[in-house]
Amino acid sequence: MECRGGYTESMESINQLTTRIGEAVTVSGWISGARSSGQIAFLNLRDGTGFVQAVVTLDRVGESVFNAAKDLTREASLVLQGTVQKDPRSPTGVEISVSDLKVISRTDNYPITPKPHGPDFLFESRHLHVRHRGPWASLRIRDTFLRGLQDFFAERGFIRFDTPIFMPTAVEGTSDLFAVDVFGNNELYLSQSGQLYAEAGALAHGKVYTLGPVFRAEKSKTRKHLLEFWMVEPEVAFLDHEGNMQLQEELLCYLLNRIIEERPEELDILQREVGPLQTAATGPYPRISYDEAINILKKQNFAISWGDDLGAPHETALSKLYDRPLIIKDWPTSSKAFYMEPFENDATRVKANDVIAPEGYGEIIGGSQRIHDLDLLESRIRENNLPLDAFDWYLDLRRYGSVPHSGFGLGIERTLAWVTGASHLRDTIPFPRMLNRLYP
Ligand code: 4AD
Ligand code: MG
Repeated sequence: MECRGGYTESMESINQLTTRIGEAVTVSGWISGARSSGQIAFLNLRDGTGFVQAVVTLDRVGESVFNAAKDLTREASLVLQGTVQKDPRSPTGVEISVSDLKVISRTDNYPITPKPHGPDFLFESRHLHVRHRGPWASLRIRDTFLRGLQDFFAERGFIRFDTPIFMPTAVEGTSDLFAVDVFGNNELYLSQSGQLYAEAGALAHGKVYTLGPVFRAEKSKTRKHLLEFWMVEPEVAFLDHEGNMQLQEELLCYLLNRIIEERPEELDILQREVGPLQTAATGPYPRISYDEAINILKKQNFAISWGDDLGAPHETALSKLYDRPLIIKDWPTSSKAFYMEPFENDATRVKANDVIAPEGYGEIIGGSQRIHDLDLLESRIRENNLPLDAFDWYLDLRRYGSVPHSGFGLGIERTLAWVTGASHLRDTIPFPRMLNRLYP
C-alpha cells in the first residue's frame, strides 16, 4: 500500500487537476462508479476534493493492471498514476489517462447502489452516504458557511465566546427543554441557546459571538426542526434594535456572497439556482412590522389575530411577496421571550425581529435588543414564572455596568437549507438528530 509520507503535497488533489493538463499525476482515492467493456475501463474517482473520470486501457497498462482495474466496484480504494487530459465532455473539463494503478482495498456489496433509495435508507446509511455527491456538496457548503461567519465576525472585531451546554435555566421557554441528570442534579438542561452567557461576554469584550450546538425537544416532526442544531449568536454592547437588524443583513449578504464565490461547483451539483441567491446577497432587505404582517395575512384570508405567533404557512405566504429575506419587526411582548426590550412608548411591543428566508424556508434568525433595566427584567422573569434565583447571575449583568445591548441567533441548518435548496434540514448536517433518527 502506498501512503504519503506524512501530510505532504506530493499527490495531486482532483480539484487541482485542471491546472495540470498534459502532466503526469498521482491520485489516491475511491471508486465512485465504474464500467468496462472489452479493452477499456472507465473509473469514476473521488478523493474528497472532487470527482474525475480515469480511463484505463489494456494497451496502455498491460494485462495484470487492466485485470485489477476492470472489475473494481464502488468504494474500492486505490492509488493511480496517469496523464491529465483535457476533456470538454467532462463536467470538470479533464480526465485521467491511467498508466498504472494499485488497489488498496476492494469492496463487495456496497449497500448504496445507483438505483433510487428512499431517504430513510439513506439516513440509516448516513455514515456512507456522506461520501456521495449530494451530501458531499452540501457539507462542503456548510464548511464554507461556518468559516465565513467566523471570518465575518473576526473582521469586525468580535471575540468568539463559547458558552456551556449544561444549563441551570431555560432561555427560550420551557416547553422544549431537554432535562438531563448530571450526578443526581436533575435541575439541569441542555442549552437551547447560548445567549444569556453571550450577554455576559458582550459586557466583557464589547462584541462577541457564540457558536455551537443547541437542543430543543421539539415533538413536531417537520422538515424545519432538528432536536440538535447549530446556532451562531452574536451579542453586542451599546447596539440597539436598528443596528441589530443591520448586522443581520450584513452577515447574510456576506455569507451568500462567500458561498456563491467559493462553492459554485457544489451549488451546481445540488442544482441550486444561483440567481435568487445573488439577489438575496444584496440589501436592503424589506422590513415590515408584525402589525403589517398580520394585516397582509388577514387580507389573504388567513385566520390569524394580533398576538398570535406566525406559523410555517404564514411565513411562507409572507416570504413569497419578496425576493430577499424578509425582516419582521416590533413583535407583541406577549409572544416573545422574557428578556426582550419593550418600546418606551408602547410596552405591548418589543424591539425584536425575525428574519424569514425566501422561497418558504421559514424563520432563519430571531433577535432583539435586551432589557437592561434591573427592575424591569426582574418583573419580566416573575411574569414568565421563571425561577428568579437561577437567573441571579444574569441579573448581575444589570446590577453592574448595565448598558443597552442586542444580539440574535441564526440557525445554521435553517439558513443552509435555504442556501442549498434542501427539502429538509437533515440534509445540511453530517448526522442529523430527529425524533425518528438517532442512528448512526
Ligand atoms: O428564535 P430562537 O428561538 O432564538 C433564540 O434562541 C435566541 N436566544 C437567539 C438570540 O437572540 N441569541 O432561535 C433562533 C434560530 C431560529 O431563527 C431558527 O433559525 C433556529 O434558531 N431554530 C431551529 N433550527 C433547527 N431546528 C429547530 N428545532 C430550531 N429552533 C430554532
Ligand atoms: Mg424565533
